[in-house]
Amino acid sequence: MANVELTNLTKRFGDTTVVQPATLSIAAGEFVVLVGPSGCGKSTLLRMTAGLETPSAGTVAIGGRDVTDAPPATRGVAMVFQSYALYPHLSVADNIAFPLKIARLPKAEIAQRVREAAAMLDLTDLLSRKPRALSGGQRQRVSIARAIVRQPQVLLLDEPLSNLDTGLRARMRHEFARLHQQLGMTMIYVTHDQLEAMTLANRIVVMHRGRIEQVGAPLDVYRRPASLAVAEAIGSPGMNLLPATIVERHADGASVRTGDGAVVRTLAQVPVHAAGTVVTLGVRPEHLLPDRDGPFVGAVELFERLGPLSFAHLGRRSDAGAIVAQLPGDRAVHLGEVLRFAVPPADTHLFAPDGSAYPLTPPPSNPVR
Ligand SMILES: Nc1ncnc2c1ncn2[C@@H]1O[C@H](COP(=O)(O)OP(=O)(O)OP(=O)(O)O)[C@@H](O)[C@H]1O
Ligand SMILES: [Mg+2]
Repeated sequence: MANVELTNLTKRFGDTTVVQPATLSIAAGEFVVLVGPSGCGKSTLLRMTAGLETPSAGTVAIGGRDVTDAPPATRGVAMVFQSYALYPHLSVADNIAFPLKIARLPKAEIAQRVREAAAMLDLTDLLSRKPRALSGGQRQRVSIARAIVRQPQVLLLDEPLSNLDTGLRARMRHEFARLHQQLGMTMIYVTHDQLEAMTLANRIVVMHRGRIEQVGAPLDVYRRPASLAVAEAIGSPGMNLLPATIVERHADGASVRTGDGAVVRTLAQVPVHAAGTVVTLGVRPEHLLPDRDGPFVGAVELFERLGPLSFAHLGRRSDAGAIVAQLPGDRAVHLGEVLRFAVPPADTHLFAPDGSAYPLTPPPSNPVR
């Protein structure tokens, strides 16, 4: 187990900066998940940590040691990729043993460690097979076994499950949670999958255009996205984001008018002369409550029934912004039906023209009943 300190870590390719100076402290044993849209720099940040990419500036320290200029093999890290990259001509056992043979460990110890890693990933019965005789999930388990067999201090994973089907992903997600508990390794994990990010992470790091936008516990990031980019990156289906204009500032928030003329109360603390500012109102699908007088209205264009809950997609004027509302699974809805919703002020988000979230007035801590 080792901590990881990235300090002003930067990557430029020619004139383009793909990772802006990134500073991040990861505690020993922590499970950190990196999320963000395609091309935002997640893999590049991970590869600089592993030593597979040379930083343009900044430093990487692992376990208190500056490894910025150290070759990958001496950093105490192992990396698992989206494509498993197994040696096709080697058996599962030899694939797992490979890094240990390179490191010239004694034969008996290699055999022992391969047995342990295989048992941990449920591969014991497959040790003599060749990769081509394995399923996708089994192959990915072999590549994970090969990564942990060296007993790295830090395990880096770049979308390790994205080639697998949904069922297998769910099982592997549990495997990672268990592996992390068992080995207590520091893990940095890149994913596009909301469930993986929310369930596996001790902390989520949201990246956008090469910048770290927000770092926090999954629920904190979900509940209080610091910017539009974070609001867009976290949650599935995503937060409804509607163009709006500030109409009035109140002692405990602000009212905004949406594109279709509805006025919505928020707890956003806006500047004194903010009236007239064009902003973005954010509301998560589960916070839209059916309300006959509610400000959000539209005809159902698409209805997704998932079982325990459903999502109604409301068709609206194009400048008003689309709305998705979460409904109970047993709610009967027909296409074209007009639905109306309201949102409690405490469940709104308001984003300034530069994309940053306005601070929210905290709810009274001791409400008088
Ligand atoms: N060798 C390279 N030369 C030039 N540009 C590169 C190079 N490698 C990556 N990039 C660019 O750097 C940016 C960040 O790439 P990176 O692979 O880190 O993104 P990512 O967040 O991992 O995306 P994805 O989710 O699609 O995997 C991209 O715009 C990419 O095109
Ligand atoms: Mg990537």
